[in-house]
Amino acid sequence: MLTFEKLTKSFGTKTAVDAVSLTIDRPMMVGVIGRSGAGKSTLLRMMNRLAPATSGSFTFEGRDITELRGRDIRAWQSDCAMIFQQFNLVPRMDVVSNVLHGTLNRRSTLATLFNLFPKDDIYRAIDILERLGIAENAAKRAEALSGGQQQRVAIARALMQDPKIILADEPIASLDPMNAQIVMDALRRIHEEDGRMILCNLHTLDTARRYCDRVIGMRDGRVVFDGTPDQLTTGVARDIYGAEADFSEEATSTDISVLNTARRARLETAS
Ligand SMILES: Nc1ncnc2c1ncn2[C@@H]1O[C@H](COP(=O)(O)OP(=O)(O)OP(=O)(O)O)[C@@H](O)[C@H]1O
Ligand SMILES: [Mg+2]
Repeated sequence: MLTFEKLTKSFGTKTAVDAVSLTIDRPMMVGVIGRSGAGKSTLLRMMNRLAPATSGSFTFEGRDITELRGRDIRAWQSDCAMIFQQFNLVPRMDVVSNVLHGTLNRRSTLATLFNLFPKDDIYRAIDILERLGIAENAAKRAEALSGGQQQRVAIARALMQDPKIILADEPIASLDPMNAQIVMDALRRIHEEDGRMILCNLHTLDTARRYCDRVIGMRDGRVVFDGTPDQLTTGVARDIYGAEADFSEEATSTDISVLNTARRARLETAS
């Protein structure tokens, strides 16, 4: 259903994504891992057409997305929703209006200008917020919510587009472990219940292992690992992260128990 064929993105002499070839043949939850600068965000931005590819192609259900122009790009962007580390909500606007902005792609400029939303859309927005457990915040300003709640509003906005794919660029990197878990649980549930494909850039190994069906490891713009969470051993991870002897799971973990175990081990060594 989704094929990358030598997809490449260069910035001047820097190759951020280097001839990535991959096939994903059914909707699944895919995690993309790799250290800072590996090319994870650039890969997602090309998929969503926020950035054009330099060469190669990316096809979805037989259509070459890299070839789309103008209105077709906007139509694709509503099929392929994106969520970001920093939520990208309008902070002073109420939650439900933020969610309704997920329908912008198919509304007239005039209606948008005056914030006129059809009643059915408003009910649907509230249903989606309900599903994500944050409907009681519908009338609050987005900025009044916690980070975890704001990210769920961003997910609701994405769902409003009824997308086939959700791309998430480090969706939990700004959240504490408890909120990170709530947000990842929500994404997983959306995948399982709706059958939507989710592609998620993640900083942490344990999150990729716990939530994803398939993990892609990137290093210097290339895919250096593509497999199941089981195949993602510490040795493989060391390879992906290009870490030297000081590599530890702790460095890429948001899991409280992993952190505590590591801390305890350090204390025991010290005493
Ligand atoms: N607009 C740009 N102009 C120039 N170079 C860029 C641009 N965007 C990304 N790069 C470079 O491309 C490489 C890949 O960047 P990218 O943001 O995709 O990495 P990443 O894996 O998402 O990293 P992080 O984990 O820090 O988010 C980096 O070397 C980065 O400096
Ligand atoms: Mg990034």
